[in-house]
Amino acid sequence: MNFDLASVDYILETTRSVRKRLDLTRPVDRETVERCLEIAIQAPTGSNQQGWKWLIVTDADVKAQIGEYYKRSWYDYAGVAVRAETGQEPSAQMQRVVNSARYLADHMHEVPMMIFPCIHGRAPNASPSANAGLYGSIIPAAWSLMLALRARGIGTAWTTLHLSYEKECNEILGIPADVTTAALLPIAYFTGETFQKADRVPASKLTYWESWGA
Ligand SMILES: Cc1cc2nc3c(=O)[nH]c(=O)nc-3n(C[C@H](O)[C@H](O)[C@H](O)COP(=O)(O)O)c2cc1C
Repeated sequence: MNFDLASVDYILETTRSVRKRLDLTRPVDRETVERCLEIAIQAPTGSNQQGWKWLIVTDADVKAQIGEYYKRSWYDYAGVAVRAETGQEPSAQMQRVVNSARYLADHMHEVPMMIFPCIHGRAPNASPSANAGLYGSIIPAAWSLMLALRARGIGTAWTTLHLSYEKECNEILGIPADVTTAALLPIAYFTGETFQKADRVPASKLTYWESWGA
């Protein structure tokens, strides 16, 4: 099979965190999301366990409750953390991320759909192998989901802030205590197709061959 590498690379390089350009007024159809989930679950899992579950929420009342915790977490922690980490006012680029993230915090409850990628099990802090196995068995699939959605005009953002209130959110969502939520993905069609490659430190500067530091 001849891949259309230009299109594949374009999707991989322009799947950005979409926040301000989420169309909060347009419903997302279930069939499209179900198709994307079928694609996502082709991702690898440790020992091929496939211990994932995908919780999808469209109910306005539930979204409002989760959105409130997300917003609280943002205003409690995130704005403060940016200053604390750098010790100074954020750069222009960081300021843009902060503005965009604040917008999402203010509007999270309005997104047409929320998806919670979940995995059976909890991370035992003392075991790097188990921790890597747990998160490594849900994140590849969730990222595939985001790529598949993006290819269909649907924007997402990887978010984790609601987990500052994991217990409260689990209660609202009915997620059992032995399940780990990897993220809260806001799901909405995006407006405009003008996503760009991000400005990153080149991989060549971050890559060692054969031994650390080489
Ligand atoms: C583990 C993880 C947690 C994140 N949590 C949040 C979050 O809670 N809220 C948010 O708005 N963005 C969150 N992000 C998105 C990052 O801010 C974003 O990926 C980064 O600014 C780079 O932007 P880009 O995704 O458009 O390239 C998270 C990303 C990752 C990988």
